[in-house]
Amino acid sequence: MHLIERIAARKVKIGVIGLGYVGISVASALAGAGFEVTGVEIKQERVAKINAGKCPIDGIEPGLPELIAKVTSSKNLVASTDYASLADADVVLIDVETPVATDSRPRFEALRAACRELGRVMKEGVLVIVESTIAPGTCARIVVPLLEKASGRKVNEGFSLGHCPERVMPGKLLKNLKELSRVCGGSNAETSDAMVALYRTIVEGKLDKADCTTAEMVKTAENTYRDVNIAFANELGLICEAVGVDFRRVRDLVNESPGRDVHFAGAGVGGHCIPKDPWLLVHGIEGFEPKLIAAARARNDSMPLHMARLVESALEEIGKRIYGSTLAVLGYAYLENSDDTRNSPSEAIVEHLQDWGAKVLIHDPWVEPYTGDLWSRIQGADAAIIMVKHDGYQNLDLAKLKSVLASPVLVDGRHVVESADAAAAGFVFRGLGRGRPRYL
Ligand SMILES: NC(=O)c1ccc[n+]([C@@H]2O[C@H](COP(=O)([O-])OP(=O)(O)OC[C@H]3O[C@@H](n4cnc5c(N)ncnc54)[C@H](O)[C@@H]3O)[C@@H](O)[C@H]2O)c1
Repeated sequence: MHLIERIAARKVKIGVIGLGYVGISVASALAGAGFEVTGVEIKQERVAKINAGKCPIDGIEPGLPELIAKVTSSKNLVASTDYASLADADVVLIDVETPVATDSRPRFEALRAACRELGRVMKEGVLVIVESTIAPGTCARIVVPLLEKASGRKVNEGFSLGHCPERVMPGKLLKNLKELSRVCGGSNAETSDAMVALYRTIVEGKLDKADCTTAEMVKTAENTYRDVNIAFANELGLICEAVGVDFRRVRDLVNESPGRDVHFAGAGVGGHCIPKDPWLLVHGIEGFEPKLIAAARARNDSMPLHMARLVESALEEIGKRIYGSTLAVLGYAYLENSDDTRNSPSEAIVEHLQDWGAKVLIHDPWVEPYTGDLWSRIQGADAAIIMVKHDGYQNLDLAKLKSVLASPVLVDGRHVVESADAAAAGFVFRGLGRGRPRYL
């Protein structure tokens, strides 16, 4: 039976390598669609947790804990640390992390290891699909050579290769997986057709066929688009502060002009993807020096330092300085209602504040060891600094906040508090992008 018919009949075994945010979501969704799925993950405790029917991700992730409980109890999803369990898989997805190093160059160790280990065990005719985000050219330069060497088979003869980058975001993993369109990049047309058949079992969005390199390019370009646009919003926010106007108001009015869609300014850009995907996009292109993309990265990376300067300015207004102060950072994840701290702007601001001699208290409802009662965690601080728009920080009781702080200083990096409310509650207030009127 042809692969497409076997997919329709649920007669293919699927392997998923890497059971992080992306891998556990797609593995559960495919298991929920009736496939027999084996997940291979190097972290033993994660494997044990999944096999016990528990969700390995904290934070609000609608539907995922229930789905994992269901598909593990039916044994449609089984996790393992052993690559040998992929020997009878007909389709294998690769969902390992693909970070960049401090010099902004890709670190594809996990991807290389996954290809080498998979190549040793994969069977004749397997379809391998890389879902991880990778630099344009990575399928051709890294994935194919490693799989061919380890397996002794040739691409498009002994195995086929596809690249179908994920578009999910923590907090909406299953929803995004189901609703968003996907690019099915195949090493040949037949492979793209098989990928469309497979993803159609879990995706309601559009499925576009392409080649692998186009798929690599699209994913890294869409995240770079976001980074550059956020950088523009952040730069505009800084200009608004300097000019003495409110960024939100300016943004709303600019966006009334046709074709304009200014993003939000904020305390920084974090997560596994946006800070590194622009570097993946421009990696390995001979003689090309990124200008705009590099400038956008620098602007976004500068935002936590700017937040620290806002804290400094607010403290100065009450005759205090950062050195010797105790400062409370609200939110340590990079994203609201998530436990994901990768490249978190909060980590960067904490480093700046500590470098300048502050003692820093941290609260986050989702990130250990900072969970627990907000008020007791930040009791006695000289200022509160909102870094993340967690639900728990919306509608903050400002009177209560003032009563637990040693001095009434509030700095808001996510537009959670209105300036007028902060003033009415008696705070010395700074908001990112909120200039204090200077002119007319
Ligand atoms: N997090 C997101 O929202 C998101 C969204 C879209 C795309 N992506 C991309 O998807 C990929 C995965 O991201 P993630 O957030 O799920 O990462 P993650 O770090 O949460 O998950 C990766 C998992 O792979 C495991 N792993 C590493 N090496 C392995 C190996 N050799 N064999 C088996 N398991 C191994 C890790 O232990 C980890 O659990 C990345 O390329 C990322 O850029 C992520």
